[in-house]
Amino acid sequence: MRRSELLLLINTLETPMLDLQQRSIEIIRAGQFDGAYAACLSFSQYGYCWLRDGTWIAYGMDAAGQIESARAFHQWAAHTLSRYGDKVDHLLEKMRRGEALDERDYLPTRFELDGRIGEADWPEFQLDGYGTWLWGLVQFVRAHDDFALWQAARPAVALTTRYLAALWQFPSYDCWEEFRHQIHPATLSAIYGGLRTVESIAPEMIPSGLPDAIQHFVMEKAIAPEGHFMKFLGNPAVDSSLLWIALPYQLVPLNDPRYQATVAKIEQDIHCPSGGLYRYRDDTYYGGGEWLLLTLWLAWIHYEMGRINPARELVAWVEAQASPSGEMPEQVAGHLLAPEYHDPWVKRWGTSASPLLWSHGMYLVLKSLLKD
Ligand code: BGC
Repeated sequence: MRRSELLLLINTLETPMLDLQQRSIEIIRAGQFDGAYAACLSFSQYGYCWLRDGTWIAYGMDAAGQIESARAFHQWAAHTLSRYGDKVDHLLEKMRRGEALDERDYLPTRFELDGRIGEADWPEFQLDGYGTWLWGLVQFVRAHDDFALWQAARPAVALTTRYLAALWQFPSYDCWEEFRHQIHPATLSAIYGGLRTVESIAPEMIPSGLPDAIQHFVMEKAIAPEGHFMKFLGNPAVDSSLLWIALPYQLVPLNDPRYQATVAKIEQDIHCPSGGLYRYRDDTYYGGGEWLLLTLWLAWIHYEMGRINPARELVAWVEAQASPSGEMPEQVAGHLLAPEYHDPWVKRWGTSASPLLWSHGMYLVLKSLLKD
């Protein structure tokens, strides 16, 4: 063994191994305020609570045994949404009268930590977070037989359901807050998953046949001629968020050939060799890096398909992206798809988000599955 290798070995042995699970819990706790999780406090644009991020952070915390933290998030979300019943009524009334809707008529995608709707301009009209929250709430209620939470959340569930039932076919921003004028299968799958899951415990709350109609719409319109799901209607490229269609939202089973073709195409087109997953090929946000939380999603699929080693390898790659103090970023810049866009974003908003609580949340999900 060469001297340098020996020194490296001694160093590794002397440095206490950072417990990334524990660190993730600490980082998430430090970003939780009265139930709300801030997406990333140190990043200029992310000091808000998104239903999408929040639900997954709560799911990860629950999986890691941090049940009170997860419950507090769901209570916060239920309380926050129930404040906006009038807003939903107003929107539905305008629709009934055939009036044009304004961007501010929709419910937002992110909230101030105290539940207010922020003033800053943002691509707010996104629907997937609402489906995601319904899905996550019911998972929690079921896992803990928490019927007190369910009772408390029912008004918010009813309002969310009415909102989604009225708007699911509308073009909206996708989960990456882009492509306002398109219809996104990943968004539809989140809506489907949320409504179907609520239906399983409270069928009277879901308009009869609605989940079936959404499923039918996706199967009819969102499959490319080559047989995989497409990024948005009319665009046959893939996007990593399409992984959500089966896991967790079960619009199709994991072994559905169209879903398997989608996973294969994602691995082929937007998985950086021996690295992580990109969002989609033309991504330019911070130069289009590899996203930790998406890489963990692919690991999750491998795990569910019984491919444990590939799952472990992806999780190990994610672990290797953590900073020395255990912080996990949103994305890493080692192999950018569009490097010329990196610096302009840094100039605009500062260095990209880290620690991103959603990355940590997904890490906790995977670690709870891949127990050593
Ligand atoms: C992502 C969203 C996410 C938000 C907060 C955005 O850049 O596109 O999916 O909800 O950051 O983490």
